Amino acid sequence: MDEVIKYIKENRERYIEELKELLRIPSISTLPENKEDMQKTAKFLAEKLNAAGLNRVEVFQTEGHPIVYAEWLGAPGKPTVLVYGHYDVQPVDPIELWETPPFEPVIKGDKLFARGATDDKGQLYVHIKSVEACFKKHGSLPVNVKFIIEGEEEIGSPSLEPFILANKELLKCDTVLVSDTSLYSAGLPTLTYGLRGLCYMEVELTGPNRDLHSGTYGGAVANPVNVLAKMISQLHDKNGKVAITGFYDGVIPLSKMERENFKKLKFSEKAYMKELEVSELAGEKGYTTLERMWARPTLDCNGIFGGFTGKGAKTIIPSKASAKISMRLVPGQDPKKIEKLFTKFIKSIAPKSVKVQVTSLHGGSPVLTPLTHKATIAASKAMERAFKKKTVYMREGGSIPVIATFDKVLKAPAVLMGLGLDSENLHSPNEHFDLNHFMLGIQSSAYFFDELAK
Ligand code: BES
Ligand code: MN
Ligand code: MN
Repeated sequence: MDEVIKYIKENRERYIEELKELLRIPSISTLPENKEDMQKTAKFLAEKLNAAGLNRVEVFQTEGHPIVYAEWLGAPGKPTVLVYGHYDVQPVDPIELWETPPFEPVIKGDKLFARGATDDKGQLYVHIKSVEACFKKHGSLPVNVKFIIEGEEEIGSPSLEPFILANKELLKCDTVLVSDTSLYSAGLPTLTYGLRGLCYMEVELTGPNRDLHSGTYGGAVANPVNVLAKMISQLHDKNGKVAITGFYDGVIPLSKMERENFKKLKFSEKAYMKELEVSELAGEKGYTTLERMWARPTLDCNGIFGGFTGKGAKTIIPSKASAKISMRLVPGQDPKKIEKLFTKFIKSIAPKSVKVQVTSLHGGSPVLTPLTHKATIAASKAMERAFKKKTVYMREGGSIPVIATFDKVLKAPAVLMGLGLDSENLHSPNEHFDLNHFMLGIQSSAYFFDELAK
């Protein structure tokens, strides 16, 4: 292993240059104008997988953006690792808040700034480079490796789900390795064993058939924006619990052991508030902040719109009002069931004065992975060897919907070897990735293959 690690360290500059090249392609999955860029990114990754020494590199076209696949199965009798990552990124707006252009990567200190740097191009590239280093030094890998890299994670993986179902044999593996989460803190090796699920809904209210003069009609008909605001306020009770009937049915409560483990992770509410510039934290009563973020379900309004939102004043009673509402789910909750409960509840609280339309945008199931699985133990040892510190375990408030599908369809638990930091502005202006974690990640990945083969 020493030679592999030495090779990785010697190739730092080239690795970073290659990552910058990957970051220059604006692979925003949600925007139609970037459709060609998705093809370009897939091709770039296929070339790099090929150059790293993998076989059967293929770009699969889908109804949406392409899926990149590669494999090396030269270690019969050894476990098979499926490395998953996503090459798509979030939109860049508000663009005016970026200090440097999002698709012109720049290094400041130890940080590489660009859209996708930490989520997820920088993190996924780690595994391509670790494979390359192993092949360069040993001509082989200690385990079998498959790669699956999609371009639709940020839009709910609509093409990958059916792809997995249709390609069970191709994707057959013992464990899924993913770097698309965060370290608990800088330099601290971390494994994430839980992800929240998601149920994302949109509500549209229609009042009168057109915008009305608010002087002439005000006081006579219901205002959909007023009604919507009132309805949204009814979605939580006074203790911060979600008020939807049946919402908490089946939620697996936090065990005493888990609560104690969370407490052991030093979490400073004061520092957290300071970083966010808020003077109070909020949420469900009876739980600590980490518990609320990682292990309790939530409901949030992501956006609310309707009526006049331009500059200045316009006196109207709007015809329509809408809200985008997402719920983060925890083990024991099913996104499809929550979708039904939400729809029923919204309809039950809407007054007759408005018409209601509820639509589902996307969703995903929550995940809990067993800490006793041999891949998790191998990953823990691997990170300790690279970071030279003891690995900590955490859950994550965010979601990677496809992980639950891998678990269900391939019966393969995931190792979530995240290398990002929550403070690296993912989905936000000035996204960046700590290059020390990039380098330690490549080493962790190589050590992981070594540990898993033992
Ligand atoms: N990499 C993130 C998940 C994540 C978020 C991990 C925060 C660690 C910290 C992933 O790319 C993501 O953004 N997921 C979406 C899923 C959705 C678009 C279906 C999310 O959680 O909002
Ligand atoms: Mn991601
Ligand atoms: Mn993301």
